[in-house]
Amino acid sequence: MTDTFTIAIDGPAAAGKGTISKAIAAQFGFAHLDTGLLYRAVGARVLAGVEPIEAAITLQAEDLDRDDLRTAEVAQAASKVAVIAEVRAALVDFQRAFARRAGGAVLDGRDIGTVICPNAEVKLYVTASAEVRAKRRFLELTGKGEVTSLETVLADVMARDDRDMNRAEAPMKPAADALTIDTSELSIEQALQVALKEISAQRMP
Ligand code: CDP
Repeated sequence: MTDTFTIAIDGPAAAGKGTISKAIAAQFGFAHLDTGLLYRAVGARVLAGVEPIEAAITLQAEDLDRDDLRTAEVAQAASKVAVIAEVRAALVDFQRAFARRAGGAVLDGRDIGTVICPNAEVKLYVTASAEVRAKRRFLELTGKGEVTSLETVLADVMARDDRDMNRAEAPMKPAADALTIDTSELSIEQALQVALKEISAQRMP
């Protein structure tokens, strides 16, 4: 029997999904896919002059290895290409195959529990207030040498939230059966404990 187990983690920018996903994957020995990176890689190609749908259809593994995908500019480009139905469609098969790989998988994004893996064994929606998220992202970006202000980061985060929540195709929202974890007042360790408890509950026969 093939041993598959999918953990879907959705939520807005800088809520802590990435950190929690990586920690969960490490804990259980599961593979981890940051699906935002797919959209960032498409966005980066568009900034380089490629047409969006073409950029998604011809996306290569090495496009994900670029070291400039975490910038604020690429994040905005990602959320703009992410509204295009054909761009999203081009990325579905890869994500679904990853989710069902033997040995278990954690995928984080915006539509994993709702569209990509509606049958995931565990669904989490990790969120936090826009102010807290902007502060975290500001520290992350400035820590990597990007020059910006807290106001700019907050405006970017809110613009992206708005675009991600209000698009027609696969809008960001918790799946009906997702557990929401608000990390505004939780440490990473505390948020992780809540997530692990939910996973254990679902893994028990
Ligand atoms: O790291 P951060 O949370 O800031 O963003 P990300 O997860 O890297 O995603 C960048 C953008 O890609 C998001 O703002 C979404 O517009 C888009 N995205 C999406 O539409 N669907 C996903 N499953 C993942 C990301």
